[in-house]
Amino acid sequence: MKIGLVGGTGRMGEGLALRWCVKHDIVVGSRDASKAVAAAQEYMKEALAYYGKVEGSIDGDENSRLVGYSDVVVLCIPYDNIEPTLDSIAKSIRDKSIVICPIVPMSRSKDGFIYTPMHEHRDSAAMMVSSRLVNARVVATLHTISDVKLRRFTEPIDTDVLVCADDRDAVAVASELLKEIKNLRPLYVGPLSLAYQIESVTPMLLNISRQNSIKNPSIKIT
Ligand SMILES: NC(=O)c1ccc[n+]([C@@H]2O[C@H](COP(=O)([O-])OP(=O)(O)OC[C@H]3O[C@@H](n4cnc5c(N)ncnc54)[C@H](OP(=O)(O)O)[C@@H]3O)[C@@H](O)[C@H]2O)c1
Repeated sequence: MKIGLVGGTGRMGEGLALRWCVKHDIVVGSRDASKAVAAAQEYMKEALAYYGKVEGSIDGDENSRLVGYSDVVVLCIPYDNIEPTLDSIAKSIRDKSIVICPIVPMSRSKDGFIYTPMHEHRDSAAMMVSSRLVNARVVATLHTISDVKLRRFTEPIDTDVLVCADDRDAVAVASELLKEIKNLRPLYVGPLSLAYQIESVTPMLLNISRQNSIKNPSIKIT
């Protein structure tokens, strides 16, 4: 499978590339193609140093180009100033593409981390993405994973990630990819209209982390 990581030069992108390259062809994306290629080469070196050899590959390309030939796209970009990126990829993204959205809109207030759409009376990031990428099948997930743990790609991640999406076939594809990350368990929550629930767990986790000195917190549903 060809997996395009929009903004893949950052923390989430690095972790996902290092884990999924075992089986899949990864394209690390950036606004700057040369930065994407440099990151891809770096990740591949790191992957080969550990795995020896992999079935997949890691290449780099510009964000708006890679969405034209990827089967699955992951939006590894910050929420702030997301519109120009969505506009640039909307023109070239393939029809019915599966778009995984881990984006958490949040900020700091005097009380702690807050989920900004609730305060600004806005929709979740996933619903916003879906309204911009009208022919894509958006799957909201990965919000509660820690990039630190994700990038420790030689270790399993013993945690749950919550999933919201309207298209159950897209959920099945995304869940299989998530399960390839050892010990990670995807749990379906409901349609994309509920994505605000799972996006808002992250600021709560960060508050728990700060108040209780728990590093890189995650969740497990029992
Ligand atoms: N980090 C975590 O632990 C974590 C956990 C759960 C969910 N998330 C979510 O996952 C997403 C990615 O997080 P991250 O920590 O990987 O992000 P990051 O490292 O801060 O940034 C990822 C990449 O986004 C690109 N970027 C930065 N500003 C941009 C802009 N204004 N427009 C377009 N692209 C921009 C940059 O790539 P180029 O400069 O190469 O274009 C950067 O390398 C976020 O939405 C975050 O809420 C993160």
